[in-house]
Amino acid sequence: MTWMLTGGAGYIGAHVLRALRMAGERVVVLDDLSTGDPRRVPAGVPLVVASVLDGQRVTRVLREHAVDGVIHLAGKKAVEESVRLPLRYYHENAEGVRRLLQAMADAEVRRLVFSSSAAVYAPPTTPLVTEEAPTVPQSPYGRSKLVGEWMVADAARSQGIGAVSLRYFNVVGNATPELADRGRSNLFPRVLDALRDARRPTVFGLDYPTPDGSGVRDYIHVADLADAHVSATGLTARPGHTILNVGCGRGYSVLEVLRAFAERTGLDTSPEILPRRAGDAASVVADPRRAAEVLGWRARHDLADMVASSWEAEVALDTALLEATDPAAATSA
Ligand code: WQD
Repeated sequence: MTWMLTGGAGYIGAHVLRALRMAGERVVVLDDLSTGDPRRVPAGVPLVVASVLDGQRVTRVLREHAVDGVIHLAGKKAVEESVRLPLRYYHENAEGVRRLLQAMADAEVRRLVFSSSAAVYAPPTTPLVTEEAPTVPQSPYGRSKLVGEWMVADAARSQGIGAVSLRYFNVVGNATPELADRGRSNLFPRVLDALRDARRPTVFGLDYPTPDGSGVRDYIHVADLADAHVSATGLTARPGHTILNVGCGRGYSVLEVLRAFAERTGLDTSPEILPRRAGDAASVVADPRRAAEVLGWRARHDLADMVASSWEAEVALDTALLEATDPAAATSA
């Protein structure tokens, strides 16, 4: 089958592209390159440089490439930025979904996998978050994703679309160093930056009601997330809308993450403790059972794998780090 992958030149999109091609699917990438890198799109894969907001262009691409379905990842995902620029997030993330759905109707394309987020949930009151948990997003980013889900659900009913909304938890790691995340605002990149600059990593709050007082999250390797997208395509054959958590079902605290980095790198990750960050929940961990049941999918990588892939990418891209950990290794680099 042929899939149009929006955002396929991005960090997560490039991993989904890699997984789709390994599964033998044909892909055409649509990306406005506002944050994507065309070098992440292999030769031979058509790359259309355009935004989903250009509905007429999207309709033409769907028709010209005889697209069977769409995997929609293009959008903005920085929570703090969404607080400062809410209307930009509603335009890109919500209006983007609306225009994509209109283009799909015009081109009679009826299969969709949509990138949603755990950010749609209210601060959890249970150890694990199921898909039935209350959806009371705490940021414009989360609200823009929830509005997207609502539009997908309504279009599934009115246009006979087979749709899956995947609620991502905390995506980290990389399949290869070249595909590493270049965003620098989440925990893993911030720890890497601190280690590279010989600074102490920061912990936002050590007074949460968690086992060690630091925040707990469900970290998922981006390669596992990509595999979930390939599995989800199989659910789009029949009209309807399925919502699935994509997480491991196991939470790790910030201090556990820092310990994992110390074990992998041999560097000191003793943190600087700062006050809580506004808007942070104490613990957000997925109940991944529905994805296991309906997709036969479960995450395969553990925290050590996630930390190792992040560290190896950082070292591969910065030999100065190699010297920091093993002066002898740098000469052989
Ligand atoms: C993780 C934990 C922080 C940095 C993100 C985004 C969004 C969404 C879910 C897809 C928290 C703590 C962080 C630092 C710290 N993904 N922290 N020191 O806030 O859980 O949410 O993932 O939609 O990308 O909403 O991710 O990596 O910022 O924080 O202590 O220097 O690490 O308090 O507990 P978050 P994060």
